Amino acid sequence: MVKGGVNMIEFADDLITHVEEMDQQHMRLVELLNNTYELLKEGRKEEAMKLFKDELLAYTEYHLSEEEKFMEKIGYPELESHKKVHEIFRREIQNLAPYVEKGDPKAFREALSYAWGWLYNHIARTDKKYGIYAKEKGLI
Ligand SMILES: [Fe+2]
Ligand SMILES: [Fe+2]
Repeated sequence: MVKGGVNMIEFADDLITHVEEMDQQHMRLVELLNNTYELLKEGRKEEAMKLFKDELLAYTEYHLSEEEKFMEKIGYPELESHKKVHEIFRREIQNLAPYVEKGDPKAFREALSYAWGWLYNHIARTDKKYGIYAKEKGLI
């Protein structure tokens, strides 16, 4: 669970893949999305942009490549199709950039809800499958 009381998005139990490292990274992603929103809501546009560009975009890249490395390491058969879906995820996050730049918290919140819906489905449906595979193979 992501802590912070007024967060707009929460990390639900059905997002747990049971691959500890990946779960931590997913939580960090959600935390960075929430923090960006909080800064915008407080009118701290410059800081929101800095967080978005320097941390969220970088962390997204980090997570996706770590996840791909993990899937490769366990010999996950769906690696290639999963990699393709990650391309869409990169775009989802990048699509938030104009809303952060505008500094409009309401528009950002709407765009974020959309991106979060996408991310939620990706973790719950696609990421979860490597957790099941890893467990079946006795790797976690
Ligand atoms: Fe993924
Ligand atoms: Fe993921």
